[in-house]
Amino acid sequence: MVSGMSIHVTRSGSVQASGRPPSGARARSGRTSFVCSGCGTSPPKWVGCCPGCGEWNTLKEVLVIVAPTAHSGEAVPMTQVPPTSFQAVPTGISELDRALGGGLVPGSVTLVGGEPGIGKSTLTLQLAAEQVRCGRSVLMVCAEESPIQVRGRAERLGGLHDDLLVTSVSSVEGIVDLVDRHSPDLLIVDSIQTVHLESTTGGGPGSTNQVRACAQRLVVEAKERGLTTVLVGHLTKDGSLAGPKVLEHVVDTVTDLAGDRHHALRLFRVSKHRFGPTDELGLFEMASAGLLPVDDPSGLFLADRSVGTSGSVVLPAMEGHRILLVELQALVARSTTPHPRRSSQGVDQRRLTLLLAVLERRVGLDLSGVDAYATAVGGVQVTEPGSDLPLALAVVSAATNRCMAAEVVACGEVGLGGEVRQVAGLERRLHEAHRLGFRRAILPASAPEPPEGMKAVRVATLEEAVAAVGLSTGPGGGRWDGIPDPPLNKLMEATSPLQGWSGLPHQA
Ligand code: TYD
Ligand code: MG
Repeated sequence: MVSGMSIHVTRSGSVQASGRPPSGARARSGRTSFVCSGCGTSPPKWVGCCPGCGEWNTLKEVLVIVAPTAHSGEAVPMTQVPPTSFQAVPTGISELDRALGGGLVPGSVTLVGGEPGIGKSTLTLQLAAEQVRCGRSVLMVCAEESPIQVRGRAERLGGLHDDLLVTSVSSVEGIVDLVDRHSPDLLIVDSIQTVHLESTTGGGPGSTNQVRACAQRLVVEAKERGLTTVLVGHLTKDGSLAGPKVLEHVVDTVTDLAGDRHHALRLFRVSKHRFGPTDELGLFEMASAGLLPVDDPSGLFLADRSVGTSGSVVLPAMEGHRILLVELQALVARSTTPHPRRSSQGVDQRRLTLLLAVLERRVGLDLSGVDAYATAVGGVQVTEPGSDLPLALAVVSAATNRCMAAEVVACGEVGLGGEVRQVAGLERRLHEAHRLGFRRAILPASAPEPPEGMKAVRVATLEEAVAAVGLSTGPGGGRWDGIPDPPLNKLMEATSPLQGWSGLPHQA
């Protein structure tokens, strides 16, 4: 039989730790849902055999939490609050579940932000399709597009199903009415900026007033009914939610879908999460069949890497809790203007400028007369401090036209004094780099031991790093084997403004 009630908080604030709640309290506090303790599947009704994993008697009844209202007059000792955590229900999309810490919690409200055209409607439609496939019903409010347009996309994404209802109703009152009539398990509103609350005056759809009022009303409905809700919100170019930031305070979970529209990669980040970890990352590739989960992102980034080109260094980057092997590239060219250009894509331009100054003052590399360009390959944004060392080495490699060996990674923060500092997660970064075939790492002096089969080249300063890359002895015969022959491009050397630079002694 049904057992294992995990948590029950009534609207008056009283708490019951276990067992079936009294029906009156249950009616007031929302509804129950059934979750398999084995695989997390949540069928709409209690059944003996889990439709997800086929196990018997694994379904537990979980009461959807309703927060106490403001007029609640009671306080509960912390020790009496049951320790059970919220049970997330898997969405069926692996990368979404990874980022959300298991899935969507029944009755929660999740905001999916992102620039126009990045793939929010695609992702939410895929989510809806997965939900109906698992036996749940979904109401999609597509106030931005007509149902005919949405059907076209649904055909491609496997979303043609009787339990997936679509509407272009744009008043929140109308949406609530539809929820009353159809009792969906999931409500998706695409987008919050295109719906309006009739009872709120002042401002049209998308205005601060309307976005706030609509979101607040939808959150109340979600909590009252235990209705899992996903709101789509457009982000402007500068990354803020169009309309107000107020949404972030109102919803339980704030996520965003980001990426370079000219690349296939999409990053799904969770920046606020009341029911799980933040800083998790889901990775997708935009393809003709929609957003496909990317299990091995490093392979994606390094697939077209041209080995044996100067100015290229690989960074084991950390995005949230995930390690991505990213190729950083630099190029220097003689400047034709009195104000040399510093340009970057995917790496912070101010950081590039700072590193050029450190290279000049601490390493002796004169870059004053050259244009410098830097990029992170694959449409990814690398903003973490660990990218300093590989980026600086990429600039040195580009300036000298010498390439690093393909098996080398570098990671470390560079200070203004030219010192190389420790960064977070080095051990995991090195394991991932080792897994992908990298055998040598340029690291801060205090770096942990690399995995067996990988050699750590520890450096205290950027100058030491440059020397280690260029001059230390090794099996290459007097020179470190990281630099293959020919070491210098004579043509470049003859015409380069870098001639006379004293940082790296020229090879015989
Ligand atoms: P969309 O989800 O409409 O973006 P948003 O809702 O964030 O504005 O999708 C944007 C782009 O994705 C669109 O230019 C077409 C592309 N796309 C694909 O490449 N493959 C697909 O299967 C789908 C549905 C869209
Ligand atoms: Mg859209």
